[in-house]
Amino acid sequence: MVELSLPKNSQIKPGKSHKAAPGAKNIRNFKVYRYDPDTGDNPRLDTYEVDMDTCGPMVLDGLLKIKDEMDQTLTLRRSCREGICGSCAMNIDGRNTLACLKPIEECSGDVKVYPLPHMPVVKDLVPDLTHVYAQYASIEPWMKADTPAPPTAERKQSPEERAKLDGLWECILCFCCSTSCPSYWWNSDRYLGPAILLQAARWINDSRDEATGERLDNLEDPFRLYRCHTIMNCTQTCPKGLNPAKAIADIKMKMVERQG
Ligand code: SF4
Ligand code: SF4
Ligand code: FES
Repeated sequence: MVELSLPKNSQIKPGKSHKAAPGAKNIRNFKVYRYDPDTGDNPRLDTYEVDMDTCGPMVLDGLLKIKDEMDQTLTLRRSCREGICGSCAMNIDGRNTLACLKPIEECSGDVKVYPLPHMPVVKDLVPDLTHVYAQYASIEPWMKADTPAPPTAERKQSPEERAKLDGLWECILCFCCSTSCPSYWWNSDRYLGPAILLQAARWINDSRDEATGERLDNLEDPFRLYRCHTIMNCTQTCPKGLNPAKAIADIKMKMVERQG
């Protein structure tokens, strides 16, 4: 039988402990993944005692308190702190989500924080998004139309045409879905994954776009689209309540329809 084990240099070691200030009574332990590829050291799990009496309610508040008051070397991405920029996506309490939308009190036991899984790590909680952004560029996420726009007005849509973009335009490209998808874990070199396919659907469904056939041709491939096996992790994890699995199923349906 094949024995599967992590390479020794990727095994997570016990890390450092950081105590709360003396007198803190309402403490919550944060266990945070730390990794700096420049050191050559293994990743480790550091423990921080966070004083909840002086901390905001969300996991991002806890991480920023740690960075501001306990350990400035902790590295993470964030910007909007209200679920709009997508940059604070990470794995918290075993689920991919946005740190700014995840209440600390919803975490069971210690607050366990890791980077998004199955992506290379730049440092600590920051995944390397180079590959997934190259995949995003490959679907050409902009409107393509040969017909000139009306000279004095925008390109119009009926309310029904506009409604076809609902459930798609709201995606913030946080990649919580793609990094929870087993097909993407194992085939991300060739499978586009749910986030990028939902974006592809956003352009395929836009009544103003005139490249639908070309876009479908670009996805007609055993790996780019058809590696989705409808496992549904993507839809369960999306912090914006979107349904990438349905968007993918709709693209597959369009592939069938155009053959008929
Ligand atoms: S439904 Fe498709 S995209 Fe979503 S998790 Fe499953 S395999 Fe991945
Ligand atoms: S579909 Fe949801 S989980 Fe996936 S990238 Fe968009 S917002 Fe994030
Ligand atoms: S900081 Fe922007 S989504 Fe969390």
